Amino acid sequence: MAETVKFWDRLSERYYRQPIADEESYRIKLEVTQALLRPDMEILEFGCGTGGTAIKHAARVRHIRAIDFSEAMLEKARARAHAAGVDNVTFEREDIVDLAMPDEIYDMVLGMSILHLLEDPDAVIAKVFAMLKPGGHFVSSTACLGDTMGFFKLIAPAGRALGLLPIINVMTADALVEKFRRAGFDIAHRWQPGKSKAMFLIGKKPG
Ligand SMILES: C[S@@+](CC[C@H](N)C(=O)[O-])C[C@H]1O[C@@H](n2cnc3c(N)ncnc32)[C@H](O)[C@@H]1O
Repeated sequence: MAETVKFWDRLSERYYRQPIADEESYRIKLEVTQALLRPDMEILEFGCGTGGTAIKHAARVRHIRAIDFSEAMLEKARARAHAAGVDNVTFEREDIVDLAMPDEIYDMVLGMSILHLLEDPDAVIAKVFAMLKPGGHFVSSTACLGDTMGFFKLIAPAGRALGLLPIINVMTADALVEKFRRAGFDIAHRWQPGKSKAMFLIGKKPG
């Protein structure tokens, strides 16, 4: 795991500077998410990276707890929030895999570009389901490489061993939807701007 954290630490500077790859899709994802936000909401974002998304939502909610296991990412996120005058996002170093939370405390959980980077996404999806209040939403965006780049399954272990790739979980869009359903979520929104683009998936906890 330490090697994976180092991978993301190394990438943080580039990640911070690089422009959003698909601005139009990103704008739509923000808009759909913001239609669900209310001023009294308590939100968790995991794998927050350099904080751009949390900062964009911050003015519409009470508080966002944004976690990432890379301190280098978090340093940039804190600087970005400070520059934007945002003071209701707390950035904390945590691994979502180890995070222990009481049940039913968040109104929304965000996991953007992260589920495919976990060894066991099912365990994390189940954890998110437990920490959401009834009626709460899990907003996610996930590269579903199993649909277009299944060969990653073969090269990912070698890439990881050489320190060139992080953990990469190769799954199809349908398999991810099935994981949400198995955890107990209703599917509130499913959108993929193109076959090779990340799938934007919102699960709603019944209630
Ligand atoms: C592809 S980046 C996405 C960042 C941001 N969510 C975005 O959409 O730009 C993945 C982020 O997840 C973090 N990450 C990966 N695995 C993690 C884990 N198990 N717990 C917490 N953060 C993790 C990495 O450090 C990195 O900042």
